[in-house]
Amino acid sequence: MNKLRIGVIGAGGIGDAHLRAYAAWPQLCEIVAVVDVDLAIAQAKASRYHATAFGDYRLMLEQCSPDAVSICTPPKWHLPIALDVAERGIACLCEKPPARTLAETEAIVAAFERSGAILQFAFCHRFHEPVRQVKELIGAGKLGKIVQIYNRFGFRFERAATSWFTDPDIAGGGVLIDTLVHSIDIFRMLAGEIERIDAVVSTTLPISVEDTASIQVTSHSGVIGSLNCSWVTPVSEAEIRVWGTEGEAIIDYTTNGGARYRLSSDSEWTALPAMAPDRFVLQAAHFLNCVRYRQSPLVGAADGLAAM
Ligand SMILES: NC(=O)c1ccc[n+]([C@@H]2O[C@H](COP(=O)([O-])OP(=O)(O)OC[C@H]3O[C@@H](n4cnc5c(N)ncnc54)[C@H](O)[C@@H]3O)[C@@H](O)[C@H]2O)c1
Repeated sequence: MNKLRIGVIGAGGIGDAHLRAYAAWPQLCEIVAVVDVDLAIAQAKASRYHATAFGDYRLMLEQCSPDAVSICTPPKWHLPIALDVAERGIACLCEKPPARTLAETEAIVAAFERSGAILQFAFCHRFHEPVRQVKELIGAGKLGKIVQIYNRFGFRFERAATSWFTDPDIAGGGVLIDTLVHSIDIFRMLAGEIERIDAVVSTTLPISVEDTASIQVTSHSGVIGSLNCSWVTPVSEAEIRVWGTEGEAIIDYTTNGGARYRLSSDSEWTALPAMAPDRFVLQAAHFLNCVRYRQSPLVGAADGLAAM
């Protein structure tokens, strides 16, 4: 079986995670190119993976003709890069948020529909083993009818004021589009499509976008969700709780990272140890298999549009 030839565009924080994840599957793929507008960064990362460094993604697409790319740049560049990638029929794993706006996301989705190339959005929590395990518990009916879901991603974002993450032209918004977009995808994964949303945001830092957001959602099936994210709270917290008529489950990313559940008949919690590789590694494997076997990704165009 020929290995898929991969290019990673944007070699910052999350670009690193994609490179590490592809490198975990040497039997499936080969990293051929690393691109960053900061060529020194691209060179440093490329040398680690025996790939070629580029400062311009178009040059990379022309010279390398990869089978698939990851788009790991800030959101402003997701659309222009995705259009060029789609036009060449190259498969794409595009980081979240899909783009800065719904209109940009629609343009990305339309381009991939025209080209027929595979498009996966990198909502990585779909591949977080404890989340998958809790989805399985819900699917098996163990927790009864699900009535409420709570999620919080909170931490102190030290470099917020000086980073592109708080520049609305580059990021598309603040914590809502950056962090809470994950929460929305997780809620949709566990509870199905959202019917109603009420949202409030606030800004504490001296920045022009919101740094704290809470949304209340209701799914078609009547599950109520309370989704909360903040960049200004000092204790890092990442937690999902699910309550059903027969029990509850907790996923705590910050302590042991695993899930646990307790049914109405239980006096103790049952731990679900997560033995799987991390979510980025599993996300890459899913993408590579979708490209190899021309299957629709678990998190595709419809999910990107729904989240936006
Ligand atoms: N899935 C997750 O959990 C997760 C976590 C962090 C970031 N992200 C997402 O990943 C994306 C990148 O975030 P990051 O934290 O890696 O940012 P970053 O600032 O650490 O890295 C971005 C890199 O992209 C490069 N770049 C900018 N424009 C480019 C272009 N046109 N062509 C090539 N390279 C370009 C920059 O020089 C920089 O090195 C964002 O969409 C962000 O929301 C996702």
